[in-house]
Amino acid sequence: MPHIDKTILKSLIEERSDFVSGSQLAGELGISRVGIWARLEKLRARGFAFEAVRHRGYRLVEEPSGPHDRLLESYLELWGIDMPVYCHERIDSTNSEAQRLLAAGTGTPFVVVAAAQDSGRGRLGRSWYSPSEGNLYASVAFRPGLPPGRMQLITLWLGLSLCAGLRGEFGLNVGIKWPNDLVINGRKLAGILTEARVDSDLMRDLTFGVGLNINGDPSQWPAEVSGIATSLRRELREAVPFNKCAACVLASIHTAYRDFTAGRHEERFADLWKQADVLLGKQVEARSKHQSIAGTASGIDDSGALLIKTDSGNTVAVRAGDVSLGTNPVSA
Ligand code: BTN
Repeated sequence: MPHIDKTILKSLIEERSDFVSGSQLAGELGISRVGIWARLEKLRARGFAFEAVRHRGYRLVEEPSGPHDRLLESYLELWGIDMPVYCHERIDSTNSEAQRLLAAGTGTPFVVVAAAQDSGRGRLGRSWYSPSEGNLYASVAFRPGLPPGRMQLITLWLGLSLCAGLRGEFGLNVGIKWPNDLVINGRKLAGILTEARVDSDLMRDLTFGVGLNINGDPSQWPAEVSGIATSLRRELREAVPFNKCAACVLASIHTAYRDFTAGRHEERFADLWKQADVLLGKQVEARSKHQSIAGTASGIDDSGALLIKTDSGNTVAVRAGDVSLGTNPVSA
């Protein structure tokens, strides 16, 4: 039997500005009209607001400002995506929770979302500032059955698709800084941490973690992040409906994964990357534990490595590390 709240929410989202009849919902779900009313009261207690008009029914007027599992699933289902969502008010790290669920044998794909993280992880062993302020902390778990050598490329493709999805949804000039930072005017909007368990020749599972600043106010954040971060709210100068935005993000990731595993990314990858690549043609420095390479960023190779043309004319492929822009931009 379909989940009652999900069926109710799907009908209300679909109609949005119109009313949905209580008796029609009751008929569809095989419960009484009082049963529908009781469910709506429970949803009200979790941040929803409904308008109720006699003989017309119910209309959705407000959604919760934080993650709501059934609402996220409803949006996804309306867009043709069937993916369970596990929401938490607080958690150590959504990536860690996804990995615990994977280890326990949970079917994929699924997503873990939290309103706040106590030990949010970033790339290169850093931490990810994760206050409870209307930002998205989400991890989507897959069992791709791909060779480990494809991990860099699938990560770039998922990040790139997310970048394109946010551009399309909000009309913002979101770019990508290799490998996976989403940036606007040099400020970081989102970060991505992909972690995989690898068997000898196959990725056993893949956890794609994304932290997206939606409604947070970076000016109030600790000094080390406030000067370099942005949020959708800061860029758009208005609050963004959290669950609809989060559902768009999850839908982009899910669709991108399906396209990658079916080989449908190949035609579009290079063009999309060129459009979004904020490093292209710029003077950069790539640092890893063992080396530092400076030169002009020249796109990526087939495996997803960053290409840097050094002053001596050699092109070096950088597979891991941190890249910063030099002071000397060569071209836009
Ligand atoms: C980075 O830019 O360094 C990557 C940041 C990734 C943060 C996200 S938030 C959700 C998921 N859970 C984590 O612990 N990290 C990722």
